[in-house]
Amino acid sequence: MTRSGLRGIGGGVSRRRLLGWTGAGAALAGAGAVAGFAAGESAQEAPPDPSGGVVPFRGPHQAGIVTPAQDRLHFVALDLTTTDRRAVISLLQRWTTAAERMTAGAEAAPGGAVNRNPEAPPSDTGEALGLPAAALTITFGIGGTLLDKLGIPRPPELADLPPFQQDQLDPAFSGGDLCLQACANDPQVAVHAVRNLVRTGFGTTAVRWSQLGFGRTSSTSTAQQTHRNLFGFKDGTNNLKAEEGALLDEHVWVPPQQGPPWMAGGTYLVARRISMHVETWDRTSLSEQESLTGRTKGVGAPIGQAQEFDVPNLAPDSPIGTDAHIRLASAQNNGGARILRRGYNFVDGSDGLGHLNAGLFFVAFMRDPHRQFVPMQSQLARFDKMMEYIDHTGSAVFAVPAGLGDGDYWGRTVLEG
Ligand code: HEM
Repeated sequence: MTRSGLRGIGGGVSRRRLLGWTGAGAALAGAGAVAGFAAGESAQEAPPDPSGGVVPFRGPHQAGIVTPAQDRLHFVALDLTTTDRRAVISLLQRWTTAAERMTAGAEAAPGGAVNRNPEAPPSDTGEALGLPAAALTITFGIGGTLLDKLGIPRPPELADLPPFQQDQLDPAFSGGDLCLQACANDPQVAVHAVRNLVRTGFGTTAVRWSQLGFGRTSSTSTAQQTHRNLFGFKDGTNNLKAEEGALLDEHVWVPPQQGPPWMAGGTYLVARRISMHVETWDRTSLSEQESLTGRTKGVGAPIGQAQEFDVPNLAPDSPIGTDAHIRLASAQNNGGARILRRGYNFVDGSDGLGHLNAGLFFVAFMRDPHRQFVPMQSQLARFDKMMEYIDHTGSAVFAVPAGLGDGDYWGRTVLEG
C-alpha cells in the first residue's frame, strides 16, 4: 500500500499516506508522533513496507548517520543569500517541519500537491505521491562559512581542511553554508525531499552544488551485507557500525567537554567527491587491483586470509603491502583514528573525453576531521597507489549538531544559544 489515494478528513486526496513500519511500535511512533501534521493526518496502520518503512526523525543523534545505509542518496550544499539571522531561523523551523513530515511519508506541507486552491502553487511538488517513506532520512549540517556570515565562532574542528597532495578540487563541488543529506531506498523519495527543501529555502538559500548517489559503498550496521564500489570491491567491511556503541562514542559523537555546547552529541561530516578512472582500472590485472586495495576482490578478505571479516595482518612482513589502501587507512597507521564511512557510487554522464564520469561520493562522520580524516587522507594522498586511479574533485566539511527533542528545530542551539 502506498501513500497516494487517501481521502483526507476534509475530502479530497490530500497527502501521501503515512505508511510503513520497520517493525513494532518504533516506526509507528516515529510516524504518528510527528509534529506539524494537520488534524486528521495521523499515521495509519500498514502492512510491512519492503522499502524500509519510517525511520524516526527525532532522537539523541540525527538520523542518517548510524541508520543502516539506504540504497540512494541526494546530497545538496546550499549557500545563504541573506545574513539576517531571523530569516535563517525561520527557514530552519520550516525546513524541520517539512523534513519531519517527509521522513514520515507525508507531503512537505499540509494541503499538498493536489488539494489546494487551484489558483495557487501546490504546497508539495508531487513527484513522491504514491511512494512509501522508503526509510528516508534527512541529515542537516552547518558549514564554517555560515558561522562566519552570522558572526558565530567556528569550533576548531570546523576549520578548513588543509590542501592534500594531488587534490584536484573544483569550487563547483566544494564548500557550502549548509548541507542536507537525504538517503532513501527509492531515489525519487530522496530527490523529492531535497527538491522541496530547496524550494522552501527560496529567498534565503541557493543551491551551491548537489550530488546523486546509488549503491551505497558502506555498511553501517552488522545486519547489512557489504556492497561494492565501482572498482568492484566490497567497501565498508571494516567500517564503524551502529552496534558498536563504545567505538561510536570514541570516534563519532562529540562529547560535552569538546567544543561549543551546541555540538555535544553531534558529529562532523566530511564529503569528498572522488572521480574514479574506471576505464584505466578495468585494464589493470586482478592481482594488481587486489594488492592496491589490500583485499581480495571476490570474498573481500584481507590479502593472506580467507574470510571477509578476518582481521587484516598488518605486521611489517605481512602480504599486505606498505602502499595498500587498507594498511594506509587503518587505525594502526593513523594513531588509532577511525571514521564512520557512508559513501555512495555515482556516474554523472561522461567526462567529454570518451570516458564515464564515475566515482565515489565519499561521506564520513567523525568527532574531529583534523584528528581523524586529515591524517588518514594525508597518508593516502602521499602513499596510496590507488591515487593513480582516482582524483579528489570536491570537498566540504559540515558540523552536524545532535538530534532533536520534541518541538525543537534544526540549528536552534546554534542560532539561539
Ligand atoms: C575512490 C576512493 C576510495 C575507494 C575506491 C576506497 C575503497 C576501499 C576499500 C575497497 C576498502 C576495503 C573494505 C573496507 O574495509 O571498507 C576500504 C577501506 C577503507 N577506506 Fe577506502 N576507499 C576510497 C577512499 C577512501 C578515503 C578518501 C578514505 C579516508 C580518508 C578511506 C578510508 C578507508 C578506511 C578507514 C578503510 C578501512 C581500513 C581498515 O581496514 O582499517 N577510503 N576503502
